[in-house]
Amino acid sequence: MKVLLIGDGGRERALEWMLRKSVFVTDVISVPGDLGRAECAWCGSDMFTGMGRLTPYASRKDIDFVIVGPEAPLVAGIADIFRLNGKPVFGPSKRAAELEGSKVACKLFCKAYDIPTADFDIAQTPEQAKMYVRRRQVPIVVKADGLAGGKGVKVAWTREEAYKAIDDFSLLPAGTRFVIEEKLTGWECSYIVLTDGTYTLRFPPVQDYKTTQAGSTVNTGGMGCVTVSPHEFTPALERKIQETIIKPTLAALRNEERPFTGALYAGLMIVGALPYVLEFNCRLGDKETQTIAPLLRDGYDIVPYLYGTTNNTMNYRVSPWKEEYSVCVGLAAAGYPGRPRTGDIITGIEEAEKLDGVYVFSGGVTHMPDGSVITFRGRVLDVVGTGRTVKIARKRAYEAVSKIHFDGMWYRKDIGE
Ligand code: AMP
Ligand code: GLY
Repeated sequence: MKVLLIGDGGRERALEWMLRKSVFVTDVISVPGDLGRAECAWCGSDMFTGMGRLTPYASRKDIDFVIVGPEAPLVAGIADIFRLNGKPVFGPSKRAAELEGSKVACKLFCKAYDIPTADFDIAQTPEQAKMYVRRRQVPIVVKADGLAGGKGVKVAWTREEAYKAIDDFSLLPAGTRFVIEEKLTGWECSYIVLTDGTYTLRFPPVQDYKTTQAGSTVNTGGMGCVTVSPHEFTPALERKIQETIIKPTLAALRNEERPFTGALYAGLMIVGALPYVLEFNCRLGDKETQTIAPLLRDGYDIVPYLYGTTNNTMNYRVSPWKEEYSVCVGLAAAGYPGRPRTGDIITGIEEAEKLDGVYVFSGGVTHMPDGSVITFRGRVLDVVGTGRTVKIARKRAYEAVSKIHFDGMWYRKDIGE
């Protein structure tokens, strides 16, 4: 099977790592790729301008299966285009991806089907958004409607902060409408299922570290991730998530004739013992995937699981994940999450990878013709440690991090603590 893998971050490198172990896969073509890998360089870095060229490309290359990593092409409808051309795709249709593409649509969907989520108002203009802020208590959460790469959400502790967020968001393409919502207090968890629209198979639940440092309010695309222990993530909690969120969501989308296939990612806040939806994503998580990929059991193959979302075979699948823990530490470039510095030479990756239970995924590197590896975006490497306990996994991850160096490299020291 020849696989076309769309997306060029750490998540896609972790997917590629699993695909390359598969007995079904003869070839993985990644677009857009990095400059050091000739087969990928044709697409450039703009997936929207590349989109029209991808379907003829897939036909020319006899692609058997298309896997879409990031949200932007899914929300723009890339899966529909491939399906019209007869290609099986891992990833939902444009109509189903709306759950991530529009926060307004997501909140209205939750309300219509009684799916637990924070109480909210929807504003069509910045003035209306400010009026809703005045009417509600602080702290309060302001969200821009469209995709904003994690930059369209502000937890505001004062009304002034909320007004400023509304003004800032209205400058973004995503900021044509706003969600003003109640701030929930609890613990967060990423619950991701692979689904064919009806049956699901879940990833081990993880916690994502979104801010630059503990206690900071500056959000990033993610600084690290850890698997959640079964003491916190109890079978009773999981039943609640399935019964009150996952099953009704999939059933409603089927009834609306936009069945969801691919990965449904529920960003949850657990308040007491009850799960609430903070957001839905229409894809696998970036860092969640890197965290979980190394937990694929020996002898298991990821392809039937991913392909199973396209041909109604999810119900035959048993969990392929080891009962181990995993800690993923993101290494960022100087300047991230603002404008990152790039072009710094990275050393020590191979040495780190030699350690027991350690895996390194590159999300932002370029391979130079002379064999050196340099940084090319803010989120550079994801270093994963696995083991029988979180403590072991964490120790391995940070030992591996200590082997790696590039100028300006920084990371959180408390992942999995
Ligand atoms: P989102 O992109 O909607 O997941 O929001 C990004 C982050 O903002 C979440 O991971 C939470 O930490 C925070 N957040 C979003 N909505 C709420 C809420 N209603 N209450 C508390 N925190 C929230
Ligand atoms: N880990 C957060 C995300 O993928 O959106």
